[in-house]
Amino acid sequence: MFDLPLNPATGAGDWLRSARDRLEAVGIESASLDARMLLLDGLALPHSVIVAEPNLALNDQEIERLEAMLSRRLAREPVSRILGWREFYGRKFEINPQVLDPRPDTEVLVETALNKVDQHFGPAHACRFLDIGTGSGCIAVSLLAERPGWTGCATDISSDALDVARANAATHKVADRLELIEVNWASGVTGPFDLVVSNPPYIASEELRGLMPEVQNHDPAVALEAGADGLDAYREIFGAASTLIAPGGLMILEIGATQAARLRSLAADTGLIAQDHQMQEFCDLAGHVRVLLLRPDAANG
Ligand SMILES: C[S@@+](CC[C@H](N)C(=O)[O-])C[C@H]1O[C@@H](n2cnc3c(N)ncnc32)[C@H](O)[C@@H]1O
Repeated sequence: MFDLPLNPATGAGDWLRSARDRLEAVGIESASLDARMLLLDGLALPHSVIVAEPNLALNDQEIERLEAMLSRRLAREPVSRILGWREFYGRKFEINPQVLDPRPDTEVLVETALNKVDQHFGPAHACRFLDIGTGSGCIAVSLLAERPGWTGCATDISSDALDVARANAATHKVADRLELIEVNWASGVTGPFDLVVSNPPYIASEELRGLMPEVQNHDPAVALEAGADGLDAYREIFGAASTLIAPGGLMILEIGATQAARLRSLAADTGLIAQDHQMQEFCDLAGHVRVLLLRPDAANG
């Protein structure tokens, strides 16, 4: 199947180079980084050991384990799925096939929420927030871990996802400040909240088939698909916003790279904002508008 033969590597450095070459040969752009992550996790070694001892000898069992991990990556399974964890906002989050693999873009939402709540309410405010569609819990758990005075509710329609969020909340010692609720969006959830956050599904049904195999074959469809135009989840969330957001409160949403203008219109049509300045846009590292901040109560200032 691959042009390059399986390298009978006996040293960590040999295996690393061989793995990188085989990943490059199937067009995986992050080949070097991926090979390194598989090696470190597969051997349960810190990076410093590999740097200090690039010729560290590998036994047959270790090579077999690394080769099994590499075969999965060559078949376009994401590294995080092979490892069963992903680093997000400086912490390690457990993931499984039932949850979205947390993305670096979502860290923009977390950063925006922390900064804007501090600015808006003051850094000592005991913020109570709602996270709609929490998945692995990466957003809610990060907010709570960063702000020991905050409390949160997090919803998901998937009980399997909520189990993962519960485990991550326990790992990061915030479980006592997080209520997890299995529900359709935020139906029946008792607000209001100072802050409502969500990274909802936002891929249009038609676009699903064009996604990379890492996404299409490994992220759960319920975490991705949001109707014909990709905006169905936002319609639900905007529709419920007036009962969920406390007077003077904030809503912060992750959005698709091309959705900002349409969401501005949708928020105005729903009556959530009356003036342009009530919605602010924040970009990801690629320069796409990735996060929206809405202040429904700020029509006059
Ligand atoms: C894009 S994922 C985001 C997960 C996580 N918040 C993150 O940022 O990695 C969307 C999440 O919304 C959940 N979801 C989809 N439909 C839902 C619904 N009707 N009600 C509640 N949650 C839903 C999915 O199960 C998934 O966990």
